[in-house]
Amino acid sequence: MITQLLDVNEQSLKLGASLIKQGELVAFPTETVYGLGADALNGEAVRKIFRAKGRPGDNPLIVHVSSKEGMKELGYWNQSAEDVFNAFMPGPITMVLKKKSLPDEVTAGLDTVGLRYPQHKDAQSFLKLAGAVAAPSANISGKPSPTTAQHVFNDFNGRIPLVLNGGECGVGVESTVISLVDRPMLLRPGGVTLEQLQTVLPDITVHQAVLKNVELDKAASPGMKYKHYAPNAVVILVDGNGEWLYNNACDCGIKTAYYKKSDAALEAKLLFSRLRDADQNQLDLVIFELPANSGMGLSVANRMLRAAAFTVLKQGQSMEIDVKGRKYTLKA
Ligand code: TXA
Ligand code: MG
Repeated sequence: MITQLLDVNEQSLKLGASLIKQGELVAFPTETVYGLGADALNGEAVRKIFRAKGRPGDNPLIVHVSSKEGMKELGYWNQSAEDVFNAFMPGPITMVLKKKSLPDEVTAGLDTVGLRYPQHKDAQSFLKLAGAVAAPSANISGKPSPTTAQHVFNDFNGRIPLVLNGGECGVGVESTVISLVDRPMLLRPGGVTLEQLQTVLPDITVHQAVLKNVELDKAASPGMKYKHYAPNAVVILVDGNGEWLYNNACDCGIKTAYYKKSDAALEAKLLFSRLRDADQNQLDLVIFELPANSGMGLSVANRMLRAAAFTVLKQGQSMEIDVKGRKYTLKA
């Protein structure tokens, strides 16, 4: 299959929408990350997303719409949904509601659905033409999410017919996911912060998986199984100053990138590019300083922890890493 990479304009948007109607996959920009879209009402088309990504079948997809009415058609509305919609939508947030009629493929058999109305103008134009679009992040499962059309093309060249290029994503991490089915709960921090949510949902709770590897707590599974956002390089987080660890790695001749803690919104915007660049530049190790767990820092920490398979070093601690079959002991 030839994969077209086209700038967003009237013509490419029409092509994209007609491909969606034909049951094909189209990647499109949003303000968070690029999505890999299929017609949300076509179970056969949605199955193609899981095949293309290598995504586990039990992980539900978000449905993207371009109006409040579009959301109400797909999920059972309540007062919290109304309040969240009015405060944050369109925007980088997804709300999980009890689902109405949708193919089981979209929701992985759950009786709930994640609904999102993106803020990105190109996404809105695309959705107005294409209708409800089910879309995960447009990356091969387990790899960092894509924040440019080129990232998508690198992962899916030859496997999908069209990537719509709308430039670099502004937010850089995925949408905030909240469940409003029962008591409001934050399932994934993202472009809307917990502090912002608390102004509308004062009693919102935070799911323990946000900063912890709960799957590993439950069962003695191999750690790598739950690695997400992972480049080929080893990723280590430092709770403190990473300079020591960086110098130590350089002294050992390990090809390393080191990112100091900085403005959390900027770190969010750059995070996935940094992880992808690590592979492009064939690095062996990436060191990040862990951000504070507040504001966008919580969203960045959530991704970094997964990229690092929850490996966090405090000052003075050491660990053994494996680089191309050689073992090194590094100290932070
Ligand atoms: O910003 C985003 O959300 C991007 C863009 C493309 O919109 N999409 C995205 O999709 O990140 P994905 O599939 O990579 O992540 C969706 C997350 C997954 O963790 C999934 O388990 C959760 O949302 N999710 C989707 N539907 C759900 C549901 N009904 N109940 C609980 N979690 C749900
Ligand atoms: Mg994803």
